[in-house]
Amino acid sequence: MSNLEKASRLIDEENNYYARSARINYYNLVIDHAHGATLVDVDGNKYIDLLASASAINVGHTNERVVKAISDQAQKLIHYTPAYFHHVPGIELSKRLAEIAPGNSPKMVSFGNSGSDANDAIIKFSRAYTGRQYIVSYMGSYHGSTYGSQTLSGTSLNMTRKIGPMLPGVVHVPYPDLYRRYKGESEHDVAMRYFDSFKAPFESFLPADETACVLIEPIQGDGGIVKAPEEYMQLVYKFCHDNGILFAIDEVNQGLGRTGKMWGIQQYKNIEPDLMSVGKSLASGMPLSAVIGKKDVMQSLDAPAHLFTTSGNPVCSAASLATLDVIKDDHLVEKSAKDGEYAKQRFLDMQKRHPMIGDVRMWGLNGGIELVKDPETKEPDNDAATKVIYYAFAHGVVIITLAGNILRFQPPLVIPRAQLDQALQVLDDAFTAVESGNVTVPKNTGKIGW
Ligand SMILES: Cc1ncc(COP(=O)(O)O)c(C=O)c1O
Repeated sequence: MSNLEKASRLIDEENNYYARSARINYYNLVIDHAHGATLVDVDGNKYIDLLASASAINVGHTNERVVKAISDQAQKLIHYTPAYFHHVPGIELSKRLAEIAPGNSPKMVSFGNSGSDANDAIIKFSRAYTGRQYIVSYMGSYHGSTYGSQTLSGTSLNMTRKIGPMLPGVVHVPYPDLYRRYKGESEHDVAMRYFDSFKAPFESFLPADETACVLIEPIQGDGGIVKAPEEYMQLVYKFCHDNGILFAIDEVNQGLGRTGKMWGIQQYKNIEPDLMSVGKSLASGMPLSAVIGKKDVMQSLDAPAHLFTTSGNPVCSAASLATLDVIKDDHLVEKSAKDGEYAKQRFLDMQKRHPMIGDVRMWGLNGGIELVKDPETKEPDNDAATKVIYYAFAHGVVIITLAGNILRFQPPLVIPRAQLDQALQVLDDAFTAVESGNVTVPKNTGKIGW
């Protein structure tokens, strides 16, 4: 069991100053330093990281090549705004991102500071290119925290409560859920039912010829690691093409090897997005995002329609170039696929022994393990999920929940097999301990999780 004396003291102090809108409460982890998939807190406790800073550290904490790129660049030039002039890391990175984006059409890039502003960019570029105003996004999605990206999101009432009106012209449709399908439904039936829901607005109040884009997460991240069926994605993609609507994807959470493919959209066959947003692991947690799009779409706006003083910062760009090198040279996409399959089999084995595991969803080192009160009713078990993450934390494993009852499994892709095994064993023990009623969550924790 960890001693959290210093951490608790620091958090008590911070609570006097740090506004609560900016942190989702889990447990008392104050991180001092980290390497690979290991975190060390201010009390000297070590943890295996199964969160990777919300999928922002795919190449592992303090990766040597990224650290070197950052410090070398910081000594040369920390910043000069790309709003006016040019720097070499930014030049190299825009070319590289345009080249590695999915599909063969020529692409262009515009940088930002967060995944949120990259999704705002999707609103701007798609409206500008099409001359249309409406945007379709998904319930259960998380796209960020600016007004635009928050409007696009559909995962928490706290993202609209007290702060409306939101951006006009955004319509939400339901994201397909294969786990909670109706009795007797096949995957095809689910795809068709949700495609009918997708089309319903277009048949009742939303003119397709006034719709600029559909924005979708190829796999919903904060929604619980939920993947739409192939058939559904192809139908939506075709609907967009047939109606002159841009098809846009959010790769902020699921891109850069997380799903066992370079891009989440490559989980589907032959889809080339018109626009995509990237962030998080793009610069290994340094503030950098990008919107990447087909050339003619990206040329539909003139400066200063989308620029930021610090976007495409040289240090962040250097970190990003090193990150992309590490992903390629260390074969992290392949490792994510292989180790993800291994972890999936381990969770499926646990599911046979622990009836609280209702669903195991895993693509790459990227899993949503859904805990339920009864596998038949599939009623979410938030209480069990909270106890599992508390047990894990007390036994040296950092994992959090999504939607209250879903374990979010997103370790750094570099995690060695021995650490992966150790963390999976702790989770297995956690399920046993929770089932036997042996785990209590400390009192006065406040609301835990999303
Ligand atoms: C899918 C997705 N899009 C966008 C964002 C927003 O990114 P940021 O927090 O860097 O603004 C996130 C963050 O969690 C995300 O998961």
